[in-house]
Amino acid sequence: MDIQEKVVIITGASEGIGLATARLFAQAGAKVVLAARSADTLQTIVNELHEHYREALAVPTDMRNKDAIEALVDRVFQQYGRIDMLINNAGQAVRGTVADVDIDQFRQIFELNVLGPVQAMQAVIPKMRQTGGGLIINVSSNVSHMHIPAIGAYAATKAALNMISDTAREELASANIRITTMFPRQTATNFGNNSLATQRTNQQGPRPRQGGPEPDRAEAVAQKILEAARHEPHEQYMDR
Ligand SMILES: NC(=O)c1ccc[n+]([C@@H]2O[C@H](COP(=O)([O-])OP(=O)(O)OC[C@H]3O[C@@H](n4cnc5c(N)ncnc54)[C@H](OP(=O)(O)O)[C@@H]3O)[C@@H](O)[C@H]2O)c1
Repeated sequence: MDIQEKVVIITGASEGIGLATARLFAQAGAKVVLAARSADTLQTIVNELHEHYREALAVPTDMRNKDAIEALVDRVFQQYGRIDMLINNAGQAVRGTVADVDIDQFRQIFELNVLGPVQAMQAVIPKMRQTGGGLIINVSSNVSHMHIPAIGAYAATKAALNMISDTAREELASANIRITTMFPRQTATNFGNNSLATQRTNQQGPRPRQGGPEPDRAEAVAQKILEAARHEPHEQYMDR
């Protein structure tokens, strides 16, 4: 998709990969809509985008809340008359082995990482149908293809998101709604600190791997998301 002038909703845009993506897409000429819970932070970012680039809109949204997600999509459609792209990026991890992961925390991240994106898709799909199609980019993780002790619950949410993306791609092809799954690797953001800890093990979740490659920068992931938006592969990885 040529992203100039396109209306792009980015969830989890208050920091990390989502923020870097919002900045890059705005710079590339898109009308970006930033969604996350931190209203003040979003407004500060939007002011910055207005100053340097162009139109941008902050819509504080809890991506676990169906009514809030629908209100977000309605607001954007009302303002711009179209939604060209949805980037389902908001996400959180929990750390804990299968034996001890806190089930309430697992449920919370499942709601954010799986049901949130599905509800956002359900809200935008009718709007995209009305305007002839669109692109949905679901941000997964390379760990969805791996089995790493204490990361299983988080990886399972992303594996579920992969399956939703693959199925929706077939279901929506005739409506010209395209689906791309983005697979970031370990990225230098506050993701580890923002993860839910399992109280039973009192561990913080995903930690930098020792002796492994340097984590990617959020800006590098945003570049790959932009590449995915332009070329619309079914899957976008960092190393391709
Ligand atoms: N960092 C990595 O190593 C890595 C690797 C692979 C995949 N990923 C995936 O990439 C995506 C972005 O990760 P990141 O590293 O940028 O994480 P991050 O720095 O922790 O940022 C997470 C974003 O999600 C938002 N968020 C959290 N809960 C929310 C909720 N209930 N409703 C709406 N927004 C919510 C946060 O904003 P508020 O707190 O303001 O709501 C924030 O903007 C996630 O889906 C993550 O799973 C990350």
